[in-house]
Amino acid sequence: MAERLQILVLNQISPLGLQRLPTDRYRVGKDVSEPDAVLVRSADMHAMAIAPSVQAIARAGAGTNNIPVPQLSARGAPVFNAPGANANAVKELVLAGLLLAARHLPAALRFVDGLDPAAADLDRTVEDGKKAFAGFELAGHTLGVIGLGKIGCLVADAAIKLGMNVLGHDPEITVDAAWSLPSQVKRAGSIAEVLRGCDFVTLHVPLLPATRGLVGAANIGLMRPGAVLLNFSRDGVVDDGAVAAALAAQALAYYVCDFPSPALHGRPRVIALPHLGASTREAEENCAVMVVDQLRDYLEHGNVLNAVNFPAVTMARESAYRVAIANANVPNMLGQISTAMAQAGLNIHNMVNKSRGEMAYTLVDVDSAVAPAVLDSLRRIEGVLSVRYLPQQL
Ligand code: MLT
Repeated sequence: MAERLQILVLNQISPLGLQRLPTDRYRVGKDVSEPDAVLVRSADMHAMAIAPSVQAIARAGAGTNNIPVPQLSARGAPVFNAPGANANAVKELVLAGLLLAARHLPAALRFVDGLDPAAADLDRTVEDGKKAFAGFELAGHTLGVIGLGKIGCLVADAAIKLGMNVLGHDPEITVDAAWSLPSQVKRAGSIAEVLRGCDFVTLHVPLLPATRGLVGAANIGLMRPGAVLLNFSRDGVVDDGAVAAALAAQALAYYVCDFPSPALHGRPRVIALPHLGASTREAEENCAVMVVDQLRDYLEHGNVLNAVNFPAVTMARESAYRVAIANANVPNMLGQISTAMAQAGLNIHNMVNKSRGEMAYTLVDVDSAVAPAVLDSLRRIEGVLSVRYLPQQL
């Protein structure tokens, strides 16, 4: 049997995804010492020693802030994710968050928990007590959506269907996302405009240096008195200290989030869930299937789809002999790669090269087998980050 590829699994990943790695070609587990790739959900990999054998990391989710992406880029390894695969699950939890706040449901449930079910006056206590939890309806209120990727668009669409007004903001909205938005969604030119103009504001941006503390002391005061802030993206996107101060000053009615934190723990107007956004059977299955398929296609054919640090590159297989090269996006790399191949007497059958930022990626199909010495000569070209040989019977 040919040597199997080794996949290290750091978290619970849906079996529906893992089953797509056939056991005759893959060894999958938590005790893999020289992994070819890593499958991860939320494990923090920043402090982890990532084995030199790792050629790719696949995250069964959208965010990749638990992965040291620049470190992987420097070694020419892609980091895959599953954009959109859990978007419906997160959307549904955001809708729950709107209702939890608008109808004061956590406090109402705490009140019921505290009742004595054997008390003779239970009914009267309930009827008297409920006055404290009178809420308002979502319809007619305005929801601000900051970040109109897959999740933000689904949330905006659902809110329109619930009769809400929606104000959206995303300076980098894609053409696809723009097409998917209902025409009733109004476009805001800035985050400040959203904060000023809405009863609810929900955040759907990745955690990046540019989005850290996106809502904080400098702008939380712009929110309408009694507004509700929802954060189902990442904890660092909101400054918890600023939220605590706004809640204490009763400027903010509720902070609904998926990230418990010491600064906010125990505050009655904080509704914190334990990172449940993507925790549905359907989302876990969708994410696992999507990233496993992407990872397999990369390991076996070098194709790249949905990597956060690589360009999307796919090429149909027309030759048994494929070389995949990641390199710095600088002049004359392709010239040097094709010269090294020509000098080795290799005929290029097909080739594709794309770049994204500082990363370039090339797939080359040649007409005959590639000797290890040729691969080594490619690796020695300055700027080449990784070279993989992917021979396969057609
Ligand atoms: C995501 O980034 O999509 C979520 O964090 C996924 C998860 O909960 O694992």
